[in-house]
Amino acid sequence: MCGIVGYVGEKKATPILINGLLKLEYRGYDSAGIAVIENNNIEVLKDKGRVCNLESIDGIDKLASTIGIAHTRWATHGKPSKENSHPHTDNSKTFAVVHNGIIENYNELRDFLISKGYTFYSQTDTETIPNLIHYYFSKDEINDNNRFLRAVRCACNDLKGSYAIEVISKLFPELCIVVRKDSPLVIGTGNKENYIASDIPAILSFTKNFYLLDDNEYTVITKDSISFYDNNLEKHNKAIKSIEWDASSAEKDGYDDYMLKEIFEQPNSIRETIGSRLKLDEKCDFEDLNFSKEYLSTINKIYIVACGTAMHAGLSGKTIIEKLCKIPVIVDIASEFRYRDPLIDNKTLCIYISQSGETADTIAALKLAKSKGAKTLAISNVIGSSITREADYSIYTHAGPEIAVASTKAYTSQIVLLAILAIYFAEILESSDKETLENLKSDILDLPTKIGIVLDNLEPIKDFAKSVYTQKDMFFLGRGTDYNVALEGSLKLKEISYIHSEAYAAGELKHGPIALIENGVTVIGIITDSSLVEKCISNIQEVITRGAKTLVISNQILPNNHFDYVIDIPSTSCLISPILSVIPLQLLSYYISKNKGLDVDKPRNLAKSVTVE
Ligand code: F6R
Repeated sequence: MCGIVGYVGEKKATPILINGLLKLEYRGYDSAGIAVIENNNIEVLKDKGRVCNLESIDGIDKLASTIGIAHTRWATHGKPSKENSHPHTDNSKTFAVVHNGIIENYNELRDFLISKGYTFYSQTDTETIPNLIHYYFSKDEINDNNRFLRAVRCACNDLKGSYAIEVISKLFPELCIVVRKDSPLVIGTGNKENYIASDIPAILSFTKNFYLLDDNEYTVITKDSISFYDNNLEKHNKAIKSIEWDASSAEKDGYDDYMLKEIFEQPNSIRETIGSRLKLDEKCDFEDLNFSKEYLSTINKIYIVACGTAMHAGLSGKTIIEKLCKIPVIVDIASEFRYRDPLIDNKTLCIYISQSGETADTIAALKLAKSKGAKTLAISNVIGSSITREADYSIYTHAGPEIAVASTKAYTSQIVLLAILAIYFAEILESSDKETLENLKSDILDLPTKIGIVLDNLEPIKDFAKSVYTQKDMFFLGRGTDYNVALEGSLKLKEISYIHSEAYAAGELKHGPIALIENGVTVIGIITDSSLVEKCISNIQEVITRGAKTLVISNQILPNNHFDYVIDIPSTSCLISPILSVIPLQLLSYYISKNKGLDVDKPRNLAKSVTVE
């Protein structure tokens, strides 16, 4: 969704702000803008469209300011337009604000401000913020250095909803004030300069040292200082964090697209996920977890809650945990779970999966479980992300920054981490025999090599993509855990190729959807569970008979091979086979999208991090 960048230092701010916005393009946006303080006035340059359009705005290269705020907008209130783009200013152009999130009571605030004589030029919820700051600033009779900060705090106290905001003022040309609530914001430190961003990759090439802001923590930033205040404006200290991601991991590195790079990074991202947590002949160890047999034995059920691809990883996790730990697992969509009044209590363990750690629905679902007394465990890729700060326990996938909107390496790392977690639980609970666990460990350790083998077999996938990219509809079929992969393959295809597709449990096809199968329709089958091979083949046979064109991804010996295309993948335990069988599907959507000439990394209407409901 929207992205935020800010700079306070000694260098020209504009190129740094634009560079940061370009790094945030992956989040998805429809407008971009910056505001700087130039000759004691606020200059705002903004428009709908791409960040690069900003660079051609007249006069932008002449801006010498060393302080500024910047934003990419993903429209919520008001269509994409110049007026609705951020930054927004108050009527007197004294304050400029960029904002991520949604102000739920903006109508009420707007009416209040109108009653006080303020006018509005945009349809956004954000425009209320600079005007509210101006309102409180004008009312404050104490003319000291904290007057600006007090005005921001008073304005924020009136806001309902979620926000990460940056504010500058022409009356205080040396400082920027930032604050967040339920929307990410970090501050990067440098030598006589400080950076602000909604996402670490935006400023990773400038610094590796970050402050991760907490909710309602007001922060005043100058080039030489960063001061943190609580809601009562009491000052406090805060620990700085070093982030180990290197800047090049957030670059394309010679690949045409981030998505392709991230698909090819999977042998390594899986190695990082495994890390020192899993070794043969040793018990699994999570540095940050200390579950006892006593506690694990009391768990009556596990909920895995997430959205989109992360939820699909959860489905594979369910299969593994139920098999190894004999605890029932329910997988739920976060946006459903949070309004379902789920049956949870202090004997329920709730696991939340989120690559970004900032997905609004997943965070809200976690808060709900906590309020009902459940223990919560977050799985995220982003250290210090909101979800990890809310949860009782957090473990990280360590897959490195994922920039492409379509999630690939995060998904495979999430399944690996769930598998290791399941083994860790099973070892404590003694719920599975040692041989089963050791075999699975060995299969997990072999994954990086086996992924390499899948990635070496690109040609048949490219050929198939070429033969089907003009289609309007596709079907993905699988049984058991292969059905989970079918769901993920179908989602990948929709989001980056804009081809409609459906995933079905193969046995369910004849209960309705088979009516859609006719000559030339593409059906993709996944077959990796030896106990289900024959059943699955029969189901695919049923669509072949009705004229379907078929691709099968399998690590089994397939009798009576009538399929148009078969992609062989290495064999492994069917508990973790999704990690291998999804890769041809990731590549297939990638090549179909390329054949269609689409923007793979920035699919229409989508955002990388969904920070609003
Ligand atoms: C699909 C995709 C989305 C995300 C979903 C959750 O490729 O990326 O479906 O998986 O928006 O995002 P996170 O994992 O950041 O909570």
